[in-house]
Order: sequence, then structure tokens, then C-alpha cells
Amino acid sequence: MKQIALAIGFASLFVAAACSQREAVTADYCVVPLPDQVAVDTAATPFRLSPSTVIVAADSAAQSDAQLFAGYISTLTGFSPKIADRAPSDDYIRLATGCGTPDAYTISVATDSIVVCGGSNAGTFYGLQTLRKAIPGKGDRDILYPVGTVSATPRFAYRGAHFDTSRHFFSADSVKIFIDMMAMHGMNRFHWHITDDQGWRLEVDSLPLLTEVGSKRPNTVIGWNTADYDSVPVSGYYTHEQIRDIVAYAAERHITIIPEIDLPGHMQAALAAYPDLGCTGGPYEVWRRWGVSDDVLCAGNDSVYAFLDRVMDAVTDLFPSEYIHIGGDECPKTRWEKCPKCQAKIRTLGLRDDRNSTAEQKLQSHVMKHVADHLAAKGRKAIGWDEILEGGCDTSTVIMSWRGVRGGITAAKAGHDAIMTPATYLYFDYKQSYDESEPGAYYAKPLLLETVYSYEPIPEEFSDAEAAHIIGVQGNTWCEYIPTFRHAQYMTLPRFGALAELQWVSSPKDYAAFMQRLARLRAIYDAEGYNYNVKAFEASKEE
Ligand code: ACM
Ligand code: ZN
Repeated sequence: MKQIALAIGFASLFVAAACSQREAVTADYCVVPLPDQVAVDTAATPFRLSPSTVIVAADSAAQSDAQLFAGYISTLTGFSPKIADRAPSDDYIRLATGCGTPDAYTISVATDSIVVCGGSNAGTFYGLQTLRKAIPGKGDRDILYPVGTVSATPRFAYRGAHFDTSRHFFSADSVKIFIDMMAMHGMNRFHWHITDDQGWRLEVDSLPLLTEVGSKRPNTVIGWNTADYDSVPVSGYYTHEQIRDIVAYAAERHITIIPEIDLPGHMQAALAAYPDLGCTGGPYEVWRRWGVSDDVLCAGNDSVYAFLDRVMDAVTDLFPSEYIHIGGDECPKTRWEKCPKCQAKIRTLGLRDDRNSTAEQKLQSHVMKHVADHLAAKGRKAIGWDEILEGGCDTSTVIMSWRGVRGGITAAKAGHDAIMTPATYLYFDYKQSYDESEPGAYYAKPLLLETVYSYEPIPEEFSDAEAAHIIGVQGNTWCEYIPTFRHAQYMTLPRFGALAELQWVSSPKDYAAFMQRLARLRAIYDAEGYNYNVKAFEASKEE
């Protein structure tokens, strides 16, 4: 239960310090996401973070976190604290581990020192994020941290954000900023949607045409599949070197990258590169339209399975994540129903329509199982979109529920782990208001900040055992209509704030209090130069 024993009110209170020429401002621990406990002793002399404060980090892992923290402080205050491996007698912030579950943290603030103790280095890092967000924005001044204790344990182990860099290409530096945005919000799983019909963006040495051909389209349809096309070429992919660099960058911020190779549908860019992998043999183009393409991988062609093995070998080589996302959504069976090879495969496998699934849906399950087994042999686990339940799927595969919550509920009841990312609450490509000029996907109702915040990931009727299968919550940023990174920031901020609360906080919701805390996060967005939706900070729910 969240308890705010005594929280000092947020007042941009500038305190003229008796012992210093420098101005100081008081920090406030009521941040986003809200800690479980904030207990403050307002009578005690606060800890003063100043240019003389030392950050104490005993080992190299902690030193990496200390460096990031020093960078955050520098952005907000203009000074960069020194880092040492031993504590001086006072005036230090010490990083420690051994307090609580791995992602939990406790911050103990005394007049002469602060100790940030995580259950692991990740937990400590989240504690440092809280100290960072406690600062009320940018200014050339010291920070007064009220004496007290602040602690939090996240509600979910999997705290995800998805980013589609297929439909539009975003530079490696932009991807890193996305990762920084996640870190600021206490998220730890970056679901990287890196291949789709409109662009293949992952270098695979043994399949060079995937990027030579599959990463480029000359133009794109305007609006929702009108007859008109723009004249803006879209191209780009991430090299091995860039991927390794981004994976390491994320790991430093305690974020695991889960790449998604969406299969067997959403593969038209790969088919453009290797047309033999399709049922008709093509020719195919890197798709210039939106929606769901009928052209998918041919499930009756043995070379498709060999292709998928090679792609997965490249993926597991580049990404150390235990989980690999293998897609499985929106795979029309139009071609398979007519394809002699697919139909022969159905006969060979003895697949038949029954009450629950068609033979073609079972054929998709066969493809998914092939890939999941290939990953399992390498010690990895597959995640798939909820459609993969349709043809049957064993419980070792994690289900990502996007078509509402039903897939996640069915999955958890059947014994799968599930990640909740229902479009109606957590699709950040949807517009953020009913204003005519509001940018966002044409096909969906607006998704207001309050609606995101209102989402409850665990159904009331769930038993504890079923609830334990809901391992996390994720927001998805699809980029059909998001051509620039600044636009992607606008779509995600501040909805990331509401998502972070779902991921971390289990106490009853209070939207008004959340909005007050969110207003303070805005100052941190400003300090970092992030683009965001200003109006969302004022918006209330509209019908
Ligand atoms: C999806 O939005 N097609 C997973
Ligand atoms: Zn086929």
C-alpha cells in the first residue's frame, strides 16, 4: 500500500542558503511513477547536493550508474558531481545493493548523506531516477533533499515499451534517446519492432538482400490507403555494429532489448528481397501501403524454414535477451488456401479444420513452433501476439495481448505468461484528443491520457496463480503515421508517464494526484529537450 507519511509540498522554493552563495531548491519525492512510501522529516536539515557532493560507487557496475546519475544532475543543475569508490566523511550519495527484490529500491536521506540501495544495480538505478525526478527542473542551483525514506517495488517485472522502426526509419541516436526516455520512466524491456512489410531494418550477413532491397521504399501512400502517394523515399537499417552498440547502451540503463521479427505475415519487405519465399513467387515490392498484406511467407516451402533459422541465428547472435518476439499477428491465409505447397504441407502434417481452428491456422502454429523450438534450442523463449493462440500454442510461449485483453486472459488461464498491451489503452500511435488537428492513426478512436492511466492489467476475477501469469504491461508506438522522431516523442510523452504508473504502482488510482506529479515530470522533459504533448498536461477526459 502506498503511504505518503509526510510529503513536503511541491513549491519551487528557492532557499537562500546561509552558508553558501548559491541558490538552492527543494526536491520533492512525489514523482512519476509514485514510490510506495515517502516519509519525510521536514524539521531536519535537508541534505544539500552541491558541486562538492561526491557520488560513491564501489564497483564498476555501480560506477556506470553513478556516471549516468552525474549526467542527469549536470543537465538539471549545471554541475557534475565527482565519483569516488569510497565515501568521504559526509556530503555524499552512496550507491548500494542488497535491499529488497531486484528492481526495488530504498533511498535513505540524512542531513549529511544519501544512501540509494537497490535489490540489484537495476533497483539502485531506479532509486537514482527518483532522486533525479525529485528535482523541480533545470537551474543553476543546489538541491535540498528533505531527510527521510523513499522506497518502491515495481508491480510488474516486465515493464515494456515498443517502438516500430520499420514503417519509418529512426537513426541509431534516436533509438538511444527512446531508450533514455524509457529509463527515465523506470521501464526495462524495449520491444524493438525492426521488420515489417514496409521496411526490413536489421542487417543479416547471410541474407544481404534483406537490407539491400528490403530496407528501401521510394514513396508511401498518403493517409489511409488513398490513391495518392507522396514523393518521400524511406530507407535505412541498423548495422551489426550499431545494434551491438544500442544493446550495450540499453543494458547500461538496465533495459533489455527484445527484437521482433514479425512472421509469417508482415513479411512483404523480405519477400521483395527473396521472392521465392512467397506462395506466388512474386514479384513483390517493399510495401508502400498500410494495413495487412495478403502476401506472407509460404509455409509449404522448406527454404522458408531454413530462412527463418538463419534470421533467428543472426538475431540471437546480436541480442542477448532471453525473450525474442516472433510476431504472429495479422497473417491472412488467403495465399495459403490456394498455394499447392502450403496445401501439401497441411496434408503431410495431417492438419484438419476443427471446432477451434482451421487447418491454415494450425499451419501457422506449425511455423511458429518451428521458430520457437529453434530459439528454445539456444536457450531462448518466444513471445507472440495473441493471434498465435488461434491454431494452438504450447504454454512455453509468452502471449502479448493486443486485440483487447481477451488474448491475455485466455493465455493466463491456460498457463501462459502474458504481457498486456491492449490497443484500446496502450497504443500510443492513437490520437491524444478529439481535436481536429490532433495527429495520430486515422483508424482508431483517440486514446486519452486518462484512459491510459485508468487501465487495470489484472482482471478482478483472477486467482493469485492466474494473476502471476500477467508478467507485465507495455505501450506500443506504431509508426505508420509517425515520420520523425520528434513526432514519436510527442506521441509517447506524457503517455509514458501513465504507463509507468501502471507498471510500478499497485495502490488505488488518483488521477488528479497523478496529474500533479506529472506536471513536475514535464520540467524534466524540458531539461532533456524532449518533445511532448503540452496539451495532455491540461487535458481531462472527453467522451
Ligand atoms: C498489432 O498491432 N498488429 C500487433
Ligand atoms: Zn504457400
